[in-house]
Amino acid sequence: MRRAEPRLQRKLLAWLLGPLMLLLVLDTAAAYWTSRRFVNIAYDRALHEIAREIVMHVKGGESQPRLELSQTAADILLMDADDRLYFRVDAGNGAMLGGDIGMPPPSAVPVDAGGNGNARFFESTLRGEPVRMVSARMPINETAGAPVVHVQVAETLNKRSRLAWEVVASVVLPQLLLIVMAAIVVWLGVSRGLDPLKRLRSAVSDRSHLDLSPIDTHDVPGEVRPLVDEVNDLMARLSRTFDFQNRFVADAAHQLKTPVSGLKAQIELALRENDPDRVRHSLAQLYLSADRLSRLVRQLLSLARNEPGALDTVQLQPLDLNAFALEVSMEWVPHAIKRDIDLGFEGVEHPLVIDADRDRLRELINNLIDNAIRYSQTGGRVTVRAATTADGQYGLAISDDGPSIPVAERQRIFERFHRLLGTHEDGSGLGLAIVSEIATLHGARISLEEDVDGVGNTFSVFFRPRRDGSPAP
Ligand SMILES: Nc1ncnc2c1ncn2[C@@H]1O[C@H](COP(=O)(O)OP(=O)(O)OP(=O)(O)O)[C@@H](O)[C@H]1O
Ligand SMILES: [Mg+2]
Repeated sequence: MRRAEPRLQRKLLAWLLGPLMLLLVLDTAAAYWTSRRFVNIAYDRALHEIAREIVMHVKGGESQPRLELSQTAADILLMDADDRLYFRVDAGNGAMLGGDIGMPPPSAVPVDAGGNGNARFFESTLRGEPVRMVSARMPINETAGAPVVHVQVAETLNKRSRLAWEVVASVVLPQLLLIVMAAIVVWLGVSRGLDPLKRLRSAVSDRSHLDLSPIDTHDVPGEVRPLVDEVNDLMARLSRTFDFQNRFVADAAHQLKTPVSGLKAQIELALRENDPDRVRHSLAQLYLSADRLSRLVRQLLSLARNEPGALDTVQLQPLDLNAFALEVSMEWVPHAIKRDIDLGFEGVEHPLVIDADRDRLRELINNLIDNAIRYSQTGGRVTVRAATTADGQYGLAISDDGPSIPVAERQRIFERFHRLLGTHEDGSGLGLAIVSEIATLHGARISLEEDVDGVGNTFSVFFRPRRDGSPAP
């Protein structure tokens, strides 16, 4: 099953919104804490003022202070549209002078309550409701020695909470709006930004599987350009491989048609013969034709095996070119003797180690020696040389003294099926094409020149020495 890939748009939004929302939560908490502090400062002052007003209603001397506050005056003093207020006044000796019996005595005031002067402010609960309280000790009037009373006023938190939340909302709501707008802008922006990618996708999905032309990079964003370039490069390589294979199939079919028709004609002829000697002769001809055909098929397969795309399957191993060229040349001696050709080898004293695929290199040397022997005149001389060149490369040269290949043909004979006009020897024109492919797979270069003595041809292949110079196994 295909794993759902996170989409770019969602990923970007998650990256943007995640931290922003976290910041918003922290900001809300900080805003609430700060506004609560300022709201308390403002309303605490009013609460303190009420406490002072209540104390102004305490009359009498040191010995017996009393609260002279009528219910109506108390109602007016404690009237508030949003909150309920409670108070309690205690004399210095601890006697309660008036107020709400449900309020705690002065001794219950927490010591760590914050305050200013001799007033202390703190949060508490009263009748099951959270309240803000002020607890203060005050003289009942300005005269010196006036008795001191303890007054407490409590107020529920409705207006404080409401104001605090109003402040928070005024800070947080614009921020929330900003985040929503940013999210919309990012969503639309990314969506627009991805338009060229959508076009690219349809450009690829709409094309035929046979269309290997490059994708148009005109409208492609810079970030995706390297990817498209790589895809185009891959298409170009695929196209070359397909071209090669198509040409190969066409060539192979064309080349096989003639010999197979020839075989059929020979068989028909042989079937019509009654004379056993002539039948034997026809069979011998048939054998030769079948042999030629099988060589052609082998060469076609070799051509396919060494096509440029085969690089991945080539296993290059360290190999001594000097010893290997000698070994392969030796195998040709009987054949050369049969054709009365003097096959010689000139090597060097030390190994010439290169990276090579043994079987393919053998095929390369075989094809060159085969040509040299085949196209030399009888009684001629063929020399295989292995040497280090002036620029440090390792060269393998095969010279013959047959007819020189015209300069104009020196490039074309490496093409498949190309043969020189007037060549009477058997052959299909594939040998040098295979040599050229194998050289390319080895990163080697081929050159064809007139032989140094001016007679015949020299085919040279130049290999790069093995980099670390380790000896051949
Ligand atoms: N050493 C040579 N001397 C002269 N002509 C050569 C030599 N090598 C190649 N040629 C010419 O180049 C042509 C192509 O050679 P190539 O080896 O590709 O094919 P071929 O020898 O004709 O056939 P085969 O596929 O059997 O090798 C030959 O037909 C021949 O005309
Ligand atoms: Mg040949």
